[in-house]
Amino acid sequence: STPVAPPADGADFVVVANRLPVDRDTSGETPCWRTSPGGLVTGVAPVMQTHKGAWIGWAGVADEEFDPFDIDGMHLVPVPLSSEEVRRYYEGFSNATLWPLYHDVIVPPEFHRTWWNSYRTVNRRFAEAVARTASEAATVWVHDYQLQLVPYLLRGMRPDVRIGFFNHIPFPPWEIFAQLPWRAQILRGLLGADLIGFQRPADAQNFRRAVRICLGLPSSGNLVKIPAAEDPASELGDTMTITRTAEASAFPISIDTEHLAELARDPQICARAKEIRAELGNPDTILLGVDRMDYTKGIRHRLKAYGELFDDGVLDPGTVTLVQIATPSRERIDQYQQIRTDVELAVGRINGEHSDLGHPVIHYFHHSYPRDEMTALYLAADVMLVTALRDGMNLVAKEYVACQADDDGVLVLSEFTGAAEQLTQAVMVNPHDIAGLKSRIAAAVAMDPDERRSRMRKMRESLAEEDVRAWSDAFLSRLQQTDLQGRVAAAA
Ligand code: ADP
Ligand code: G6P
Repeated sequence: STPVAPPADGADFVVVANRLPVDRDTSGETPCWRTSPGGLVTGVAPVMQTHKGAWIGWAGVADEEFDPFDIDGMHLVPVPLSSEEVRRYYEGFSNATLWPLYHDVIVPPEFHRTWWNSYRTVNRRFAEAVARTASEAATVWVHDYQLQLVPYLLRGMRPDVRIGFFNHIPFPPWEIFAQLPWRAQILRGLLGADLIGFQRPADAQNFRRAVRICLGLPSSGNLVKIPAAEDPASELGDTMTITRTAEASAFPISIDTEHLAELARDPQICARAKEIRAELGNPDTILLGVDRMDYTKGIRHRLKAYGELFDDGVLDPGTVTLVQIATPSRERIDQYQQIRTDVELAVGRINGEHSDLGHPVIHYFHHSYPRDEMTALYLAADVMLVTALRDGMNLVAKEYVACQADDDGVLVLSEFTGAAEQLTQAVMVNPHDIAGLKSRIAAAVAMDPDERRSRMRKMRESLAEEDVRAWSDAFLSRLQQTDLQGRVAAAA
């Protein structure tokens, strides 16, 4: 890559992610900005509000260009995508190749060369935007699977900056990753970073093993040794010279625990939670599911288990109800249309069989909610169902826990989420095991108050310490320890 000179008025801290924290909403009469979907934005926005800097990303609409602007205490730098790039880079390579490949091939990933070419083009555009925005020796934090080539490309353009990368989703075992025709390029792309963060130690291990097998680069502990020939910023080209190391370790992301706990104490939100219970007919037990409409979330498995509990007479339709919220997501991709159809068919069937007039056993919503309403729902729910088949972290599980100020609530949590490593007092489930899932849901509904409180208290205590600030501090302070001095001198 051609070197780029640092801008005079650049930002010392730059976040780059496919999405900006806000999306351009063009559905109403006047276009406006609204919060973007997903856990990445929930996690990174509070970090950005405290570390002043620039956030580079896409505004969520095709064929539109926007000037940089400020919103909610953040400086945003939009990167445009054409409609063909949305189809090939975003819906194609990012979400129909990498997303299923990295989530246990729950659906078959598709490999298309045109999509890969578009992924390369768009990654280069993001890297160029960073190169134009970051000040000399800035800290750049690249996020997620859509931008895995950015660290390598950026290092070639701006060898003076410190580069961190965080993968919000799982990193698959080599045996699955190996399917990717462009596996070596992706690994090289990531190794352009000084620090590569993952949700779980197992993800970091999978990555280091892939690097060893595919690129023949050994690691020592969490450190990968990178020879000059693999380094875009080096002119040596001598494969035997180790020029630097990259660290690949786990940094489990979390939530703004204190902010959520504050919302959960807000009298208006508490009153709204009571109102929700009343609107649902004051049932004995409210179960809740909150997910993006995604096949990784295990919504079908959850509904199957729930429905069968009525068939078996274990749950009473007169006293129990489930609120299932599914945010619209990636709606033009076939597999996402399929999961929506499957979920809606299951909801219709179960309600048709078990509901009474005015008392559906499932209340289903396919839209997003403001944060206050979401908090009121968490407060109103007695049992939270998180049954993902595979999930990098799952912030919903942590949000539910943070809102239970009275320690009264039960979290049913899939062992295939990153969150299961921190929320060890949850009722753990294997969502593929429908019989097991049924018995755990039934146990959660019937759990005695002392056990509920003791489990929830321990989980709340752990989240008080391990919040999103602890996550970003741990990642960024480790990144600061990388040796920048030598690189700035070498680049001069
Ligand atoms: P993912 O990143 O895969 O979507 P996470 O559980 O990690 O999953 O994060 C989802 C985030 O989106 C959470 O912060 C959650 O509160 C938010 N969210 C999910 N569904 C909705 C919805 N219907 N309305 C508003 N926010 C939602
Ligand atoms: C997950 C991914 C994010 C993504 C989000 C929403 O959280 O890790 O990178 O932004 O889902 O998905 P979307 O495709 O709408 O950006």
